[in-house]
Amino acid sequence: MSNKGRVFSGARPTGRQHLGNYLGAIKNYVELQTKYDCIYCIVDLHAMTTLEELEYIKTNTAEMALDWLAAGLEPEKSILFTQSHVPEVTELHTILSMFTPLGKLTDLPTFKDKVRLQPQNVNYGLVGYPVLMTADITLYKAEIVPVGVDQQSHIEFAREIVRTFNYRTKKQVLIEPQMKNTDFPKVIGTDGKKKMGKSENNHIELALSDEETTEVVKTMVTDPQRIRLKDPGNPEVCNVYTLHQYFSESEQVQEINHDCRKAKIGCVDCKLILSQKINENLGSFREKRNQLSKNPQHIWEILDDGAKRARKIAANTIAEVKSAAGLT
Ligand code: TRP
Repeated sequence: MSNKGRVFSGARPTGRQHLGNYLGAIKNYVELQTKYDCIYCIVDLHAMTTLEELEYIKTNTAEMALDWLAAGLEPEKSILFTQSHVPEVTELHTILSMFTPLGKLTDLPTFKDKVRLQPQNVNYGLVGYPVLMTADITLYKAEIVPVGVDQQSHIEFAREIVRTFNYRTKKQVLIEPQMKNTDFPKVIGTDGKKKMGKSENNHIELALSDEETTEVVKTMVTDPQRIRLKDPGNPEVCNVYTLHQYFSESEQVQEINHDCRKAKIGCVDCKLILSQKINENLGSFREKRNQLSKNPQHIWEILDDGAKRARKIAANTIAEVKSAAGLT
């Protein structure tokens, strides 16, 4: 890798990606590749803190990698790998855990949320989730971490651990990462209410066929005040209109805005245009995905190769960390 400045980001293997993942994260990942050396990680170990059905990890990993590659992550340029394939991360996690006050972990709102969500499974790994995340980032000496605002407390936490480690070892081995908020825009789901997500079942998968996309778009909730076709609509409160802004040309968006307000276009037609636009935008993605999915083994080869390259960086950092901590 060069000296362009290093980006690291991770995402849990959630399987097939949706429009929210695409607009909020993947698109940014792809763009960052031109300016930085990027490392993108599928965090399968983190997934184990919440997943009860372990058999999904593998298929979800493969499906997600497929979507990332089809969307434009370039394995020749960036490192794309699976967290557990670089065991050094668990070693760094253990070392960093000795520099982490337990009370800080249990005080984190993200931890408390998890306890509320899965009271039957408050495992040890769940408490250490942010420590493992810190290990992810610092193992590769990443300077920039593109993530959504929901991860802000974790990045601040990582910065604190880094400062403590560097201070106590009197060496500046680890780098304090900067967060780069990338989940703008916040994409709302087909229910028109909540953030698009798999668990809400309000998502539109990238890998759907054109026809399936049209079917799902048809179910989208629109402006609730517009009941009859002749009622004037309010595009500013309509999620179909919001999505038009991402997928349609600006003239078309203006026309829809105007025609909706004047009740010249109905929601059904508006949705039909939207699904066409989504399908047009995702055409080359879908073609590439189909190509790639013909050879599933190739995806694992790409991830393996990424892990090999990641391990080289990881081995260096671990040697420095151990030496700084007196573990020689
Ligand atoms: N916690 C992140 C999430 O749920 C995923 C993650 C794990 C991550 N390790 C990371 C993100 C390191 C950025 C950097 O979205």
